[in-house]
Amino acid sequence: MKADLSQSVQGNLQTSDRLRIEHLLIQSTLSQSDKGRDAIAGLTSATKSLPPRYFYDDRGSELFEQICELSEYYPTRTEAGILHQYAGELAQMTGPCELVELGSGSSTKTRLLLDAYNELGYPLRYLPIDVSAGILESSARQLLADYPSLQVHGLVSTYEQALAKLQPTQLPSRMIFFLGSTLGNLNPQACDVFFSQITAALEEGEYFLLGIDLQKPKHLLNAAYNDSQGVTAEFNLNMLNHLNWRFEGNFDPSLFEHWAFYNEQLHQIEMHLKSQKKHSVYLRSLDLTVNFEADETILTEISRKFDLDTMQQYLQTQGLKPLKIWTDPNQWFGLVLSQRQPLISIS
Ligand code: AVJ
Repeated sequence: MKADLSQSVQGNLQTSDRLRIEHLLIQSTLSQSDKGRDAIAGLTSATKSLPPRYFYDDRGSELFEQICELSEYYPTRTEAGILHQYAGELAQMTGPCELVELGSGSSTKTRLLLDAYNELGYPLRYLPIDVSAGILESSARQLLADYPSLQVHGLVSTYEQALAKLQPTQLPSRMIFFLGSTLGNLNPQACDVFFSQITAALEEGEYFLLGIDLQKPKHLLNAAYNDSQGVTAEFNLNMLNHLNWRFEGNFDPSLFEHWAFYNEQLHQIEMHLKSQKKHSVYLRSLDLTVNFEADETILTEISRKFDLDTMQQYLQTQGLKPLKIWTDPNQWFGLVLSQRQPLISIS
């Protein structure tokens, strides 16, 4: 609810000395024609689905932070370990640059990068992009308190909107980074679209840092998405509360069950909400009635697990040249630094 209060503040720019937060979501959520179009499409299709971005109201962002602390959920601490070890090397490679983070959330891992750039005496300029205003603003304020030379320009926005709006940087370069394997939420087709937006936002020679979860034995993956404390289940079910709030709906989360499993053919976790009985739900502001059969599911998330060789080849096809890969001793997680190539290569 915090996010939504601040989104309704008159005017969409908040300024203080080193902080600027822009709310790009205001325009789109208020434009009636566009409102909830993706939710309607997903809920009216033969196999129901909802976009994972609806996980992240303020409560959802909080629950995700809790997931990151779970012993079964290895990605966050594994990626943080890699960053902790190699951020210095990475900063040396890019030189001074503006740091643009997609899906910044609590910005915990961002600190490892800021520390490295700070230690080299580079200027600190950070552009966090997140759909949750509450977590974006509170983590920006924390960072400003901890890094006296830092300037933050936050965008409360979807990736797509924010990437289309990025202004040329005043620093020598820019690095867009996308950590936590959130890329795994995108199916191959959406992935292509995403990368065309990334390369359009980057100038030649600028950087893209990608964190990806890697393929591994399936018992580890199943445990990570079915934790013993039920936090992931609550995170999944919370999407229904968010939809109720956003679209004046009457979903009863107690009529649904969390269901997550690893699909070995597609190398992806699939997370669903399964209806426990035949019933209907009404979303008033979308004027949409949704009928559920017993055991019918809504796919709320795919979380793809990648392979480093394939990813390197893929990045090349997208105009991004892989410069360096870092991983952990178990090879559970990978960080790939790549650089924007010229559109037409001159041979
Ligand atoms: C934030 C998309 C990377 O796929 O692992 C965690 C979200 N879902 N537990 C993931 C998530 C269930 C997470 N990403």
